[in-house]
Amino acid sequence: QLPDAATVAELVALAERLAREAGALVREGRPDQVDVAATKSSAIDVVTAMDYASEALLRRVLAAERPQDGVLGEEEGHVAGSSGVTWVLDPIDGTVNYLYGIPAYAVSVAAVVGPPEPGRWTAVAGCVHAVADGRTWVAGRGQGAYRDGRRLSVNPERPLVESLVGTGFGYVASRRREQARVVAELLPQVRDLRRIGSAAMDLCAVADGSLDAHYERGLQPWDLAAGALVAQEAGAVVTGLRGARAGEAMTVSGPAGTVARLVALLERLDADRDVVAGPEEAEPGGS
Ligand code: IPD
Ligand code: CA
Ligand code: CA
Ligand code: CA
Repeated sequence: QLPDAATVAELVALAERLAREAGALVREGRPDQVDVAATKSSAIDVVTAMDYASEALLRRVLAAERPQDGVLGEEEGHVAGSSGVTWVLDPIDGTVNYLYGIPAYAVSVAAVVGPPEPGRWTAVAGCVHAVADGRTWVAGRGQGAYRDGRRLSVNPERPLVESLVGTGFGYVASRRREQARVVAELLPQVRDLRRIGSAAMDLCAVADGSLDAHYERGLQPWDLAAGALVAQEAGAVVTGLRGARAGEAMTVSGPAGTVARLVALLERLDADRDVVAGPEEAEPGGS
């Protein structure tokens, strides 16, 4: 039930159109002073009016173009469809950067078939559009990954000490101390770390060689749906720890040899272990 090549190409074209249209709204509508509209899972998990506006635009265009498809978006949740295709939307990936005017935020749009859960779906089309500078990564399943028309491939495999590794820290506050422990162990063993602030852009950076590898705990379906396909189509392995598929517990990406080394280290560090939150982790800034 996978779409044929021509359909994949159509889905890629629509993913790109959606990401660019929402990107134009996000870019042109950014006020000088961006305000936090609400906080979500914790005090550090913020959302702005533009996150909602971007997702509304994406849903409006999809309802007109592909009314039978399902939609799963970060801000408005899941609406099931009947076609077998689900669109997985991150209306702004990198909201904290958007808030502060740091130009690393993107619109991420993917089309998947099967249940809309990483590890169970098959991603068939994806686009990540970097709003501030316009860089646009696209991929179709079996059709390669491209940035602005240039075919992408990951960097050659390297030892960790020669690898620039991206990571991120989710907004589940209780996990942050654990993530800091992993960083403390990892940092002396790699060329350097980058925390770009958009997981979708991190995965695309692996695809185009501006990172050697990336790992992150806590990624949600919309963070990785498009970027993981772009990375895979550029030759990356995208996986979890201990034979698990990439997903919330852990997502590691890069060329196979680099990923094998990074996975071994993260497994040794129990980087996917869950700890019970202490009171100070449970409510950062809450007192
Ligand atoms: C976040 C970004 C960030 C990652 C967080 C995500 P958002 O997405 O991708 O890089 O570290 O885990 O939640 O909230 O800006 O869409
Ligand atoms: Ca968010
Ligand atoms: Ca996100
Ligand atoms: Ca988001």
